Amino acid sequence: MVNEAEVQWNQRYIDGDTPWDKGTYTPAVLEIFAKQVIPADAEVLVPGCGFGHDARAFADAGYSVTGVDIAVSAVEGAEAMHVGVEGLSFVIADLFDPELPRQKRYGAIWEHTCYCAIRPEQRKSYAEAVYNLLEEGGLFIALFFTNTETPLSEGPPFETSVEEAHAVFSNYFDLVWDKEPADTFPARVGCEQLMVWRRKS
Ligand SMILES: C[S@@+](CC[C@H](N)C(=O)[O-])C[C@H]1O[C@@H](n2cnc3c(N)ncnc32)[C@H](O)[C@@H]1O
Repeated sequence: MVNEAEVQWNQRYIDGDTPWDKGTYTPAVLEIFAKQVIPADAEVLVPGCGFGHDARAFADAGYSVTGVDIAVSAVEGAEAMHVGVEGLSFVIADLFDPELPRQKRYGAIWEHTCYCAIRPEQRKSYAEAVYNLLEEGGLFIALFFTNTETPLSEGPPFETSVEEAHAVFSNYFDLVWDKEPADTFPARVGCEQLMVWRRKS
């Protein structure tokens, strides 16, 4: 069966239609490193990793990282850009695939511009998927896209709100903290919320 998301996202990379890609990691990851949010021995998963800039930043910070993306062209691009980086690997997969958590679970997940890429009706499934991909007590760390003023009918990006994210994730996670990121890309100032959640038992 054809996975429409796979076809559509892959086509965007083939067409070079990737306005979200800033050619580097989001500055918000530096705040996560500075606050030492993630234990040094945790393995990190980056769903919807695109060209892997954030995943690379986690690897450069010393973590073992896996970037997952549904688009073959994104993963091929990521592998080419970050060839030979220690502790960094990429996988072509649908984050909703129930086989993934059977293969491996992670100590932390970094969410950035994947949640806003899936359809709003998939949000509960997304929360279940990241819950299942985490080890007991694992951390779900997310930079959510909020207040973009893009109508839901025109996404992606499908923005969320702080209140909605709390409602979706509090069923599976306990909130550790949330705040606006200290730093981000200029065009995204005021449009993001950084959250740290711990997986419930
Ligand atoms: C807006 S892009 C963001 C990419 C990357 N996080 C970045 O900031 O550059 C969304 C990414 O999520 C991927 N994606 C969408 N649905 C997915 C799914 N079900 N499983 C895995 N990746 C998915 C797309 O292929 C795309 O690379």
